[in-house]
Amino acid sequence: MKQIVLSILSNAGGVGKTTLAVHVAYSIASAGFKVALIDLDPQRSLDVFCGLPPREVERTTVHVLSKSFKGDWSNVPVWSESKVEVCQGHPLLAEMANELVIRKRGEYTLADRFKSYPLEQNLIILDCPATLGMLNTNALAASTHVLVPVQLEMKAISGAAELIEWCINTSDELQLDPKPTILGFVPSMYDEKVAMHRQYLEQLPEIASQLGVKLYPRVRNSNEFKNASAYGQTLHSYRPKHPATKDFKEITEDIVALIKEK
Ligand SMILES: Nc1ncnc2c1ncn2[C@@H]1O[C@H](COP(=O)(O)OP(=O)(O)O)[C@@H](O)[C@H]1O
Ligand SMILES: [Mg+2]
Repeated sequence: MKQIVLSILSNAGGVGKTTLAVHVAYSIASAGFKVALIDLDPQRSLDVFCGLPPREVERTTVHVLSKSFKGDWSNVPVWSESKVEVCQGHPLLAEMANELVIRKRGEYTLADRFKSYPLEQNLIILDCPATLGMLNTNALAASTHVLVPVQLEMKAISGAAELIEWCINTSDELQLDPKPTILGFVPSMYDEKVAMHRQYLEQLPEIASQLGVKLYPRVRNSNEFKNASAYGQTLHSYRPKHPATKDFKEITEDIVALIKEK
């Protein structure tokens, strides 16, 4: 079995990164694998989505990236019986990002941590902030794979193309070997009643194929996603029969296949 490190990346906020992160985590755990969710966002979104109280900074991703880290991960289990653990974020991640800029091997700090102090999980998901700064560079350098949620709005689609370019260029500059694989685009918050969403969804296959990126089925828009996260849950645990729980099926199958690869 292979350990997969998956970055959920986008250069825009509010496109569904954290939603995708927690639902993929839950789905892969339900398939019987161990998952770690790591919050690299100073906004600490995973705390909300997982129903966790804020944690003291020494027990968050800030500590993992700090010079004093000696493998003392303080990941917490979430959603009882789910095999998912979370390494919580903290607002001081913003300052840590600045420190990494001037530190030796600053871009590789997270990758170095995984190498020196490996996690046991089959899948590690990095929930990233929206700005393409030092935290996302760290995420990319530590990743085997990247997943990109795309909103069906004009700017988001051109933004997604720019993001792919950023991934390729940054992987080159950092001489990542192997380079992380872009798993694909995930159209997010699709509302079939919105004409623009329908039009963009129709155009996406061509855009994705021009970029050489796989296109996953859309995740539909539903207020139940918001309701589930308000209770610190996933849609799967909050409304197990909701049709949108199936929207993550293909992504889950692909990741399970990657984990099972020799
Ligand atoms: N498919 C969806 N349908 C409805 N609301 C969604 C959906 N996906 C995400 N949201 C909501 O949109 C907001 C932004 O999503 P989030 O996952 O936090 O994005 P990001 O991590 O990219 O900032 C949240 O309130 C979330 O609950
Ligand atoms: Mg987020």
